[in-house]
Amino acid sequence: MSLRVSPRLGAIPTYEPGLTTQEVLARYGLEAAIRLASNESPYPPLPEVEEVVRSGAAGLNRYPDAYARALRGALAERHGVDIDQVVVGNGSCELILLAGQAMLDPGTTVVHADPSFAIYPHLAVAAGADAVAVPLAEDGGHDLDAMAAAVDERTRLVVICNPNNPTGVYRSAVDVERFVDGLPDDLAVLVDEAYFDFVDEADAGRVMSLARRRVNLLVTRTFSKAHGLCALRVGYGVGSAAWVEAIGKVRQPFNTSALAQAAALESLRHRSAIAKRVEETVRERRRVEDALRDLGVPFTPSRANFILLDADSGGPGEAALHEELLRRGVIARRGAALGAPGTLRVTIGGPEENDAFLAALSQVTDQSMSKLT
Ligand SMILES: Cc1ncc(COP(=O)(O)O)c(C=O)c1O
Repeated sequence: MSLRVSPRLGAIPTYEPGLTTQEVLARYGLEAAIRLASNESPYPPLPEVEEVVRSGAAGLNRYPDAYARALRGALAERHGVDIDQVVVGNGSCELILLAGQAMLDPGTTVVHADPSFAIYPHLAVAAGADAVAVPLAEDGGHDLDAMAAAVDERTRLVVICNPNNPTGVYRSAVDVERFVDGLPDDLAVLVDEAYFDFVDEADAGRVMSLARRRVNLLVTRTFSKAHGLCALRVGYGVGSAAWVEAIGKVRQPFNTSALAQAAALESLRHRSAIAKRVEETVRERRRVEDALRDLGVPFTPSRANFILLDADSGGPGEAALHEELLRRGVIARRGAALGAPGTLRVTIGGPEENDAFLAALSQVTDQSMSKLT
């Protein structure tokens, strides 16, 4: 007997998780493997944050603050907005999904880039709406003109991922502002800035100041990347009170746990310690990019904490490169699972992890070069 589910579910692509470290160790008989597949931080949470989580365990018999007032208050202060302009979620992923629920209906559309973060097409399917996936520009960034042209009277939501996952390409604040200015004032725009911390450009974060004033804009960020708290699941959005109210209508009251709220609040207090870690990741990204150039491996220059390698041009191909890295204990993410076939996405780890990745890659490229000659 089969279960009678919504026919819409058929259109939802199944999420294909990569291999776990344990699976890789067992499959290849390895003692150690490094995980560079999920754009995680190589650093554990700050010791002060760990302490807050440990001591928070004693209060787990009580529900968390349904309005996350302390955390929202701190975020409001950080961004110079009122508390009613801040919403927190079970990861920024939840907020993105809730935005779909709040804005979309059958017969409407969400416009997003392709390839981009894999969750965006789900927004449309979940609401019985249509997704308009606009191919990226040649450089791997959003084609903002084409996205503007894809907006019509059916469009209820536009999503911009900046820097874009999986390419890592960043669009300047001026470009994003011009794009938003060209849209109808009442059309909801969500700018997903999950990787904004790693953008080493002077205008990084400036779109947030636009979100303070424009009724149609929500900027989402996360504690999963720079703050290294992805297992706790906490993200936030800053935008107009109207945006926050709309998401508030569809979110469940206790959507972030007490530990998540407390840990995020504590992590916010240690701005310079987090900034130091981010600086190291950016430094390492530059080092890895230089090494890739030396190895002759083509890639898309990134402003995030990952790099997309072109595995097909002159290389052994996506499947073979992935497999050969796994054999050497390096877990990367296959582009085919990210809508970018022919590529491999590699997260920037700590210096030793990056060394291990580069050593493995250089062995594989040597091998494939010798096969070619
Ligand atoms: C572009 C982008 N947005 C949002 C997220 C979601 O992050 P989280 O739900 O952990 O905040 C991710 C996670 O990898 C991402 O790549």
